[in-house]
Amino acid sequence: MNLHNLLYTVEGDICIITINRPDKLNALNKETISEVGMAIDAAVQDADVRGIIITGSGSKAFVAGADISEFASYNLAQGMELSAHGHAVFNKVEHCPKPVIAAVNGFALGGGCELAMACHMRVAASNARFGQPEVKLGLIPGYAGTQRLPQLIGKGRAMELLMTADMIDAAEAHRLGLVNHVTEPDQLLDTCRAILTKISAQAPLAISEIIRTVNAYYDKTQNGFQTEIERFGACFTTEDVREGTDAFLNKRKAEFKGR
Ligand code: COA
Repeated sequence: MNLHNLLYTVEGDICIITINRPDKLNALNKETISEVGMAIDAAVQDADVRGIIITGSGSKAFVAGADISEFASYNLAQGMELSAHGHAVFNKVEHCPKPVIAAVNGFALGGGCELAMACHMRVAASNARFGQPEVKLGLIPGYAGTQRLPQLIGKGRAMELLMTADMIDAAEAHRLGLVNHVTEPDQLLDTCRAILTKISAQAPLAISEIIRTVNAYYDKTQNGFQTEIERFGACFTTEDVREGTDAFLNKRKAEFKGR
């Protein structure tokens, strides 16, 4: 497997997938998203792997979002394609028949929060920060954040986070139910390993059926996922997305016009 943006290691029966673009705070460009899909496929196919941890390289970020520099000039069709690609890969994470834990070691913003939410559970280091800041860019989440955040923390709280673009710390994420546990940064991976070790003691086929069956409860949201793909694409027909992305890339405050 030829990976440019990920580290893929297997330790015993645990596969660790590390998003590895630390100079860009592990932002997800298209290639990285494709590689996440390839890495999940490889871990599923490896009979020795019983569980998967997804984390970020460095001490600052899990993933600081989709790579804004890649989509700043997108149109509707490109926006929809980007979103649909992210959905396909993150659905693969969500439906992975082996348990997947997000080890959130810093910023989990936008696509990073969405990647963590696609995992079966989340463990946060005490320095982790979560948020869906897309509206600051004139956008909405494109990797199913509008669908999975309400599932995890409830509609009202999700609406607030999605509309305010507020960033929350690990303790608040724990209070809201977005993360299962908060640990010191140096305990993060060991905490995830300990959970996966407990799960490995159970029947693997039963674990796969748990994942399939719990996910089945949420299947009725499929139309919401399609709506997100279409409306994410539609954001790219606005002037505000040009302004928001240009402002970010040029390190200035955005001035939105509402068109
Ligand atoms: N896409 C592309 N590049 C990103 C990025 C993203 N989502 N997030 C961070 N980066 C890049 C920065 O542009 C910078 O690159 P440079 O050194 O070439 O200028 C580098 O990563 C470091 O980020 P910087 O902003 O300097 O770090 P910071 O500590 O000042 O701020 C954040 C950290 C996470 C608050 C800030 O990077 C941020 O707001 N990122 C965007 C978050 C976002 O909107 N995500 C949703 C995207 S849909």
